[in-house]
Amino acid sequence: MIFFESHVSFVITYLIINFPGFAKPNQFETIPLTNFTESASAIAHPNIAFIKYWGNRDHALRIPSSGSISMNLGGLITRTQVSFETGLENDLLVLNGGLTSGNALARVSALLERVRAMSGIQLFARVQSENNFPSGTGIASSASAFAALSLAAASAAGVQLEERELSRLARTASGSACRSVPAGFVEWQAGKDHSSSYAVSIAPPSHWSLVDLVAIVSREHKFTGSYEGHLLAGTSPFQASRLKDAPKRLDICRRSILDRDFEALAEVVELDSNMMHAVIMTSSPRLQYWLPATMSVMLEVSRWHKTGIPVCYTIDAGPNVHVLCESEHAGEISKQLTSLPGVLEILNSHPGGAARLESNPPDD
Ligand code: DP6
Repeated sequence: MIFFESHVSFVITYLIINFPGFAKPNQFETIPLTNFTESASAIAHPNIAFIKYWGNRDHALRIPSSGSISMNLGGLITRTQVSFETGLENDLLVLNGGLTSGNALARVSALLERVRAMSGIQLFARVQSENNFPSGTGIASSASAFAALSLAAASAAGVQLEERELSRLARTASGSACRSVPAGFVEWQAGKDHSSSYAVSIAPPSHWSLVDLVAIVSREHKFTGSYEGHLLAGTSPFQASRLKDAPKRLDICRRSILDRDFEALAEVVELDSNMMHAVIMTSSPRLQYWLPATMSVMLEVSRWHKTGIPVCYTIDAGPNVHVLCESEHAGEISKQLTSLPGVLEILNSHPGGAARLESNPPDD
């Protein structure tokens, strides 16, 4: 019986997330149609989580079980154009030049459905989205993709949203996308419901010249997606202690950013990454994102840190390693990373600005 019920709730959650008609758009406020411009284009950066989001208290709305903190990845960009057009019989998605259907289109349509409910617009939309970073490099593009889509769709539909409203809208499509809406160093306040769960900037990009050197060790997509991972997080016996300790890690991380204290940041970032992966490796069924080359880079980074080089690692739901340091050390560390066996490529990124319409100037 318990088995049956858990599967029914999984199926309902899946339908709500992936099929717009199944969701309840009437729980989002209706905003009168003003300044209708049928087409808009927006830009957003992906982000790297210093304190990670893993597990939801409400899967359908992506209300997370704990808060998280991240840095936008400047230089890496998703550009998305949305046009609501008469004559379309359904939404169309062109991703990096190719017409796309299936789950990717269903997720985009679910977000557009929310924008249609807010604006009263009834037209289907053509969405064209492209990344300036190569796909398959392990950079989660869903954060920048859904942040840019939310802004472009709302603007095209004539809906004026404040930053926190835009962050909430992006969150419903991909949790980490809410953190790609504000600028620089960003905290997602977990909240308890749709209105209290959104991200805010805690420091602008210019606050600290941190660098994220992403050591690419695999370009394959054979890993379980974050959506399934969030559903499984609660099955790990370690998730409860991870969540209990989260407010402390968030405080240390926020403070270390505000004080530009690299040593304190390094300590809490590695701890948090290891805690998330401990949950991942002990959920039921078990997941495993690390490859041998992932471990080699982690061990090497730890060895460098012990010799006094200010550097640390963090890893998302994939095998590639994000290596953090201050800009003055980035050249040397990047050179060392390139020479490690199994490292295919290094992507180099600095703190990035907020999601913005193409007509607005960049702030990073
Ligand atoms: C490991 O935001 O990709 O990168 O809400 O299902 O789209 P969905 O999940 P997603 O999860 C991100 C997981 C993570 C950690 C993080 O970015 O905080």
